[in-house]
Formats: sequence, structure tokens, C-alpha cells
Amino acid sequence: MATNITWHENFSHAERVEFRKQKGVTVWLTGLSASGKSTIACAIEQALLQRGLNAYRLDGDNIRFGLNKDLGFSEADRNENIRRISEVAKLFTDSCCVTLTSFISPYIKDRQTARELHEKDGLPFVEVYVDVPVEVAEQRDPKGLYKKAREGIIKEFTGISAPYEAPEKPEIHLRNYDGQSIEESANVIIEYLEVNQYI
Ligand code: PPS
Repeated sequence: MATNITWHENFSHAERVEFRKQKGVTVWLTGLSASGKSTIACAIEQALLQRGLNAYRLDGDNIRFGLNKDLGFSEADRNENIRRISEVAKLFTDSCCVTLTSFISPYIKDRQTARELHEKDGLPFVEVYVDVPVEVAEQRDPKGLYKKAREGIIKEFTGISAPYEAPEKPEIHLRNYDGQSIEESANVIIEYLEVNQYI
């Protein structure tokens, strides 16, 4: 950490909520590649934008084109990826945005750190486990990545040659297979946000 730096006090989150007439919340989707995280996050973002709410999706692939283009898929790089995204999500949520993050975020410790970062500033954090068995994800394989991982072309691929630590007590556990549609999954999350008065 740098020295000789000074924290400048901002508006409190409560003051921002008062001005913006909208609360902020981070909805943290975690799950294997091809589990449906991004598609579900997209559906929620669209539904909330259509209602006139401020919603924004931070997506694993997309963020790696810019902010995190220096990071790969080693454990250390994934830790740093999630650390940065946790900080960014916290800022979006502090600005009264419904912040939808769709990152594999395979390590319990990193997700716990993301939660603590939010909660210490009184910002809500909703963990959503987009649960599909690896066999189902591998069968879907929309980007052909599982095939490459099996062939050894991609190293350290989550679920094949790198770990995925499932959430133990997520706020929402979606079983995004067995006939549950994207729309149904998105609606479960939207209802949760409504019931808890985040939107
Ligand atoms: S992580 O683990 O949270 O840091 O990963 P994330 O930033 O979400 O990036 C996941 C997307 O990167 C692509 N990809 C890989 N995923 C997992 N393991 C390896 N080795 C890998 N290499 C590339 C893949 O498209 C992931 O996107 P999703 O949307 O999850 O399928």
C-alpha cells in the first residue's frame, strides 16, 4: 500500500439513496463456465433497465478485455481478478446501482472477502450460486473451452483442471439445468430483490 495518502470523505450511502431514490445492491453470481451466469445477469439487467432502474453488469470475459487484461487464470491471478472486481462492484453499489457480477469466482475465500468489503460499508451483497454439474456444463460447452481443456490445450480450466469451491450458504441457489429457464432463474433473483426491498 502507498504511503502519504489521505482518505477524502464522500457522501454517505444513505445520503446517496436519498438523492437517487434507488438503493444499491451487489448481486454476485458464481458458478462454472457455461453455468449461465452471464445470460441470467443479462436478463436481469435488461428487466431492471426497462423499469427505469440503474443496473450494470460486470462480466468475467468482458472485464478481461480491459481492466483485468493483465490477468490470466492461475490461482493468484484469479484472486486478484476477484479482489479488483469486489472493489469495483462496491463502488457501483455505493453509487446506488444494482450491480450484477458474473465471474466464476471459484474460491470461497475471495467471495467471502468481497462480501466483507461490502458489509463493512453497510452495502448489501447477495451471493447467487448458479449450480450446474460439470457434466452438464461440459455438454453445453458453447465456446468449445471444455473440449480444449480435455485436450490439454487450455490449462487450469475450472471444473476440469482447476478447482471450483461451491458456496455453502448462498442467499440464492439456482439449479440452472433440468428445465429451469433463464427467465425463471432471472425472476427468482428479481423477486428476491423485491422481497428484500433492494428494488
Ligand atoms: S475467474 O475464475 O473468476 O477469475 O474467471 P472469470 O474472470 O469469470 O473468467 C472466466 C471466463 O474466462 C474464460 N476462460 C476460462 N475460464 C475458466 N478457466 C480457464 N482456464 C479459462 N480460460 C478462459 C471463459 O470464457 C470464462 O467465461 P464463462 O462466462 O464463465 O464461461
